[in-house]
Amino acid sequence: MRYHLAPLYCRPWTLNGISPRLIESHYENNYGAALNRLNAISEEIEQLDLGKTSDQSLARLKRDEIAALNSTLLHELYFASLGGDGRVLPDAVASAIAKDFGSVDRWRQEFVGIANGLAGGSGWVLLTYVPRDGRLISQIASDHDQSIAGGVPILALDMYEHAYHLEFGANASAYIAAFMRNIDWSAVKLRYEDAIKVAPPRPLEQKQFADVPSISVEEVREMLKSGTSVQIIDTRPKHYTTKAQDIMEGAVWRDPERLDDWIGTLSKTEPVVTFCVYGFHIGCETASTLRKAGFDARYMSGGHFAWKAIKGPVRLFE
Ligand SMILES: [Fe+2]
Repeated sequence: MRYHLAPLYCRPWTLNGISPRLIESHYENNYGAALNRLNAISEEIEQLDLGKTSDQSLARLKRDEIAALNSTLLHELYFASLGGDGRVLPDAVASAIAKDFGSVDRWRQEFVGIANGLAGGSGWVLLTYVPRDGRLISQIASDHDQSIAGGVPILALDMYEHAYHLEFGANASAYIAAFMRNIDWSAVKLRYEDAIKVAPPRPLEQKQFADVPSISVEEVREMLKSGTSVQIIDTRPKHYTTKAQDIMEGAVWRDPERLDDWIGTLSKTEPVVTFCVYGFHIGCETASTLRKAGFDARYMSGGHFAWKAIKGPVRLFE
C-alpha cells in the first residue's frame, strides 16, 4: 500500500498568531516525515519473507506502522482543524458539546486544561465522537497509537514540541491559546455530521424473542435499590445449577422445566423478571410463556453473568 500526501488544508497566511513558517516546518518535517516513514514501513512489511521473519520483528514493524499511520491521520486532522476564528460554533456543534460536557465553556476549559497538562511532554488532544455512546469526548493520545477504538476524532491539537517550539519556545500555553483562536468550527461541524452517521456497534439480536421485552441488569439494580417490588426468578437449567455456587441476591430459583408447578405462586400485580445463565434462551422463553399467561414479565438481558459483571450482589446458592 502506497499512502499519499494530503495537501495542506488550512491557509497558513490567514492564521492568527501561528505563522506560516511554523506550519510549513510542521507540515514538511513532521507530517511529511511521518508519511515517508509510513510508506517505508509499509513497503518493508510487504516485502517480508514471512517464513523467515520472527514474530517479534513482525510485531515491531506493525507497531511502528500504526504509530506512523495515526501520525499522518492526526496531522491531517490538525491542519484541517485550523483556519477559523475559534469563536463561532455552529448551533449543531454547540448543542452537541453542551449536551456532552455541560456547556461549551466547560468543554473549552477541559480541552485547554488537558493540553496544558501535556505541555512539556508530548501527545495529542482530540475531540472524538464515540458512535457506541453517541457522544463526544475529549481524549489524550500521548502516543500516536492511543486512540479510542471505533472513535472518530473531529478536532486535533498537536502537543508535540515540534508543533510550537520553533515559535513559542517553551510557552506551550500561548500556543494552546493561539490554536483555540484559530479553530475552524464550520469544518468541525461538517466532520461532526459525518461522524454521527457512523453506526454504533451492532447490538446482540435475538430474532426469535424480538417481541419479548427485556430489562437491563442496570435497570434491575435500580429497581431493587429504589425498593420497587418485583419478582425475580432465576430459571437457570437444573443441570447447570447443580454446579452453580451463587445466585443473584433477591432472586428465587425455579426449575424452568416445571413452570406449571410454580406459576401459580406468582403475583399478577407485581412485575416479573426472569433470567438464565447468559440471557440467550431459557430466561427469554420463560418470560414469553409468563406474558402469554397474563404476567407483566421481562427477561434480564445478559442473565446471571451480566448481573455478576456489574458486581450485583449474590448469595450462596444452596
Ligand atoms: Fe505534529
